[in-house]
Amino acid sequence: VRAFESLGLRSEGGRLLVLDQTQLPDREVWLDGGDPDAMVEHIRALRVRGAPLIGVAAAMSVGWFAEHGASEKDVRAAAARLRAARPTAVNLMAAIDRMLSAAAQGFDADVLVAEAAAIADEDVALCEGMAAYGGRLLQDGDGVLTHCNTGGLATAGVGTALGVVRRAAESGKRLHVYVDETRPLLQGARLTTWELERYGIPYTLITDSMAPIVMRAGRVQRVLVGADRIARNGDVANKVGTYAVAVAAHHHGIPFHPVAPWTTVDLGCRDGSEIPIEERQPDEVRGVKGSFGAVRWSPGASAVYNPAFDVTPAELVTALVLDRGIVTSGELRAGGLERLAAPAAAVRAG
Ligand code: MRU
Repeated sequence: VRAFESLGLRSEGGRLLVLDQTQLPDREVWLDGGDPDAMVEHIRALRVRGAPLIGVAAAMSVGWFAEHGASEKDVRAAAARLRAARPTAVNLMAAIDRMLSAAAQGFDADVLVAEAAAIADEDVALCEGMAAYGGRLLQDGDGVLTHCNTGGLATAGVGTALGVVRRAAESGKRLHVYVDETRPLLQGARLTTWELERYGIPYTLITDSMAPIVMRAGRVQRVLVGADRIARNGDVANKVGTYAVAVAAHHHGIPFHPVAPWTTVDLGCRDGSEIPIEERQPDEVRGVKGSFGAVRWSPGASAVYNPAFDVTPAELVTALVLDRGIVTSGELRAGGLERLAAPAAAVRAG
């Protein structure tokens, strides 16, 4: 694998390494992820996570496997297992499909390694595109509410929603981030806070149910979240809890923006009802575990419903921030995503 380094993924000296995000914020442990079956487990366990990053990591694992002598048949079978590791983030399927089409040109490990490197490099560039468009929406002094983790840990680059915040802060805008803890797996409380500490961006951690209070108090001027899959009509699947944030933002008249690369758009899904939603283990809701230990607070056999994502209807989206431009709710209603897909699309510059 070609040398690459991001906050959560690294390749060096023939090894592909992932930062174990379940150990953050207390421990920075890097794990081998070259072997596709190890990578499948890392992705399922959310050791490596975030829609764009799982696509990049899976593609690199395919490249690593081919480079280490796997046959075309074994590489294709491994690619299929990686593609199915998590069902909602379409970036994973898009990245693997790209690797499979590269393999179809004539099976060559060098080609696969180069394709995986291209997918990673492109993700870095897509993040900068989103940051450029999204940054125009932020004013000096703004409070920004965010959900889950959408930064350098969730992408190969600077991030989606959190990348917008980071680049805007670096350009001199004074921002304050309200970080939803993000039940049940606490990506906000564990990971977004960890990143914001590193960048020196001021933030306040709140529980998910506190979001409407800070909105009502006038402390939030804009909501920026990520996305795992965006349907053709602009419905957005993202970390569970996003829908509630969108409803609260709508009630308080606060602009709500999913921020995503084009690799998150799935024109094959007509609307959100066609997006597969991952359901996870009941124990994630019965208690919590992490670098701080494990605890269960409900009866061990409690009936649980644990969808990992929800769908925010397009009508609650003020505008999508994509690397290709900003798409307002009016444009979404007029088929804005399909128009943006066309090569000669007239992109609204925000
Ligand atoms: O289950 P996760 O932690 O992988 O979910 C992540 C999210 O929902 C993010 O908001 C999304 O992947 C976009 S982040 C760039």
